[in-house]
Amino acid sequence: MTRQPLHVQFPDWVEVWETRADDFNAAVERFPRARWRERDTFLDDLGVRAGDVFLDVAAAGGYLLRGVRARLGDTVRILAVEPSEMHLAALPEYVEVVPGATITRFTLDDASVDCVANLSGLHHTEDIRPYFVESFRVLRPGGRIGAADVRKGSTVDTWLNKVVDRYNEQGHVGHFYDEGEFAAFMRDAGFVEVVERTAHYTWDFDTVVDMAVFCKQLFDMRGIEPRQVAELIDSTLGIIDLPGGGVGMKWELIQAYGRKPV
Ligand SMILES: C[S@@+](CC[C@H](N)C(=O)[O-])C[C@H]1O[C@@H](n2cnc3c(N)ncnc32)[C@H](O)[C@@H]1O
Repeated sequence: MTRQPLHVQFPDWVEVWETRADDFNAAVERFPRARWRERDTFLDDLGVRAGDVFLDVAAAGGYLLRGVRARLGDTVRILAVEPSEMHLAALPEYVEVVPGATITRFTLDDASVDCVANLSGLHHTEDIRPYFVESFRVLRPGGRIGAADVRKGSTVDTWLNKVVDRYNEQGHVGHFYDEGEFAAFMRDAGFVEVVERTAHYTWDFDTVVDMAVFCKQLFDMRGIEPRQVAELIDSTLGIIDLPGGGVGMKWELIQAYGRKPV
């Protein structure tokens, strides 16, 4: 069934916006379907296995590491690097926070981790080379690295650095990446079997209203109603009807992987 035009889908702002807990983790928790393709496509090729020590860098409230836990249960020891106190408080109790660590310095022993990953958490750091060097250092021989973030010039770049930048009170200035850049950083750091691709997928929702409420909350967009958020999503990123029902907001990230030589 084809969805209704955007202008007939939106009741009043007050009716759709039940909660003012407008923070990133609340949005992710409220709409678990939204980013599942993003997480699954990233995790599928990361190769986390039972018995691994997994390090989630820029973990926020733990969306990525919760996916690892859902796949492998307590067979994986999960560590997190996250600079924001507010995010740390939202992490589940099974996570070991790495004290004093930053996005590019992990305060862990050499060769103490099996898999390091960073999902959308590099673009607020100007020089990200040390993320790759530091990952190489803490990984055991044979260990895996993953990184996923925004492609320079993509519609996601426009969404974050133009649309979100305009409606979020703090603005949004992300440093985004050319194709091949992550792969080069990985090879320079010593990784082998390096693979990079731009993954295209959707953020999925039951309705366009849910999509707009999620984005307004996730990106903390102020002074704009969900109807307008949806119009901006449609004109900037594109909205499609999903074959199995529901709607998808087009999204993409560069995903790159590598292995530390044995
Ligand atoms: C878009 S969120 C992504 C979080 C999580 N990986 C996910 O996919 O849901 C970006 C994260 O990077 C962290 N971060 C990245 N660079 C940072 C920096 N330079 N200073 C502070 N926090 C940073 C933020 O605290 C936040 O948790």
